[in-house]
Amino acid sequence: LSSSATYTTPPLVLLLGPPQAGKTALLTLLERGTVPAKTHTSQTTQSVELNASLDSASSRSFRNHEDASGTHTKFLLVDTPGHGKLRNVAAAKLGRAEKLKAVVFVVDAAALGEPETLAATASYLYDVLLHLQRRAGAKAKGKEQAAMPVLVAANKMDLFTALPATMVKSQLETELGRIRVSRSKGLLDSGVGIDEIGSEEQDAWLGEYGSDKFSFEQMREFDMDVDVLGGSVTAPEADVDKWWWWMAQRV
Ligand code: GTP
Ligand code: MG
Repeated sequence: LSSSATYTTPPLVLLLGPPQAGKTALLTLLERGTVPAKTHTSQTTQSVELNASLDSASSRSFRNHEDASGTHTKFLLVDTPGHGKLRNVAAAKLGRAEKLKAVVFVVDAAALGEPETLAATASYLYDVLLHLQRRAGAKAKGKEQAAMPVLVAANKMDLFTALPATMVKSQLETELGRIRVSRSKGLLDSGVGIDEIGSEEQDAWLGEYGSDKFSFEQMREFDMDVDVLGGSVTAPEADVDKWWWWMAQRV
């Protein structure tokens, strides 16, 4: 394996998000230009190599993986299982991904109106954002870590129950705010020594410490830009160009 020394890993974009949000459908669409009639619950990660271009005539269309003009950047798009019992599989990817350039967190905008789906989605997003926040904290202590952009891809906009992207954003922010309060209360109740509370609590707190309301803007302090963009993978005319362009600019 002498060649492994010279082999360079391409930049990586990670697809995370709850079950049934459309991660595998999106990966398949970007790879083949079509979505299969049926997808199966993912149990493992799956990667495809894609070419992103900023200067070809069709760079803003997700179909430009067939366009050979312009300058292309090869990158790996990695799909992960959304099931709660397989979270470790996704977490391992997030924790060990070298060359991780961006995270795309796919949510089902049509199901977010249901309190249980909102709670489960936000809880997973909280873990992901907190992980990246801690990673940024490690950077402050001297470790080299790049800024981490996060896209919340509000999928299934073709369904009439879908919340618009602005609502997806505000609903998630409210729920993330609720989660950080309840998690910090849990810590207070758990009998942690009074002296330790300060730093421990801060470490588990997402965003601006002690602030009343959570907003994605607060993640800027940790070099994280969070965008929320709507789209649809399986609509007759798939609407994923905005997501594609977002990724192309970040790899
Ligand atoms: P896990 O593998 O369980 O984590 O799910 P996943 O996020 O990979 O979801 P998957 O891509 O398998 O899609 C789940 C279901 O949602 C499938 O039946 C898709 O056809 C459907 N789906 C995906 N995107 C859209 C969309 O934009 N609109 C609609 N209406 N359905 C979609
Ligand atoms: Mg899947």
